[in-house]
Amino acid sequence: MTDAVLDVRKASMRDIPKILELINSYAVKGIMLPRTEFEMSENIRDFSVAYDGDVLLGCAALHFYTPTTAEVRSLAVWPHLSRHGVGRSLVTSLEAEARENDLDAIFAFTYVPGFFAKMGFIEVERGELPLKAWKDCLRCPKFQNCDEIAVLKSLSDRGRAKVLEPLQTIELVQLPTPARIGYR
Ligand SMILES: CC(C)(COP(=O)(O)OP(=O)(O)OC[C@H]1O[C@@H](n2cnc3c(N)ncnc32)[C@H](O)[C@@H]1OP(=O)(O)O)[C@@H](O)C(=O)NCCC(=O)NCCS
Repeated sequence: MTDAVLDVRKASMRDIPKILELINSYAVKGIMLPRTEFEMSENIRDFSVAYDGDVLLGCAALHFYTPTTAEVRSLAVWPHLSRHGVGRSLVTSLEAEARENDLDAIFAFTYVPGFFAKMGFIEVERGELPLKAWKDCLRCPKFQNCDEIAVLKSLSDRGRAKVLEPLQTIELVQLPTPARIGYR
């Protein structure tokens, strides 16, 4: 394969079966969280895909967390199909998308910090990115014993400070509970 045929673009609904096959091939090894068709449909606008013709090589998603920060997640490249630079092209594309949206920083939780270092991310304390815990982490089997590394890339001078800012203003929301009809 040559770089000339690498096509990186936003995903569409018809990419979902191929993306699911890729992500869930890593999920069975405990490297990524499994995804369902329902979740993919809900989040497909986050995703970018890399193709060689009609062969999916890789995927990645940019998930907005606050008005100024987003997470790079669901990054996966088929090892047997890949050639040098697919992961890089996907992250570069997500970074461009983040900049188009005026974000100050992007972050990730990862087992491959060396790859993200090559992409210009720095390691940060997990506690600096706690919003994550309120979403995906809650359904992760490793929630109590997480060994992922937090990495962050500032896209502006305000980058790291902006990630921390929501912590000072976040409020816990009381979830509604079923009415206790007839309860004494
Ligand atoms: C991590 C992953 C996305 C990398 O994709 P890739 O297409 O192999 O990476 P690239 O070829 O674009 O590599 C870009 C650079 O990162 C380096 N790199 C790639 N994987 C690396 C790793 N695991 N550790 C350290 N450096 C790595 C490459 O050597 C290359 O460096 P260079 O440009 O200086 O030569 C891919 O291996 C993968 O899908 N892993 C399993 C799923 C996963 O862990 N996803 C991350 C979830 S956060």
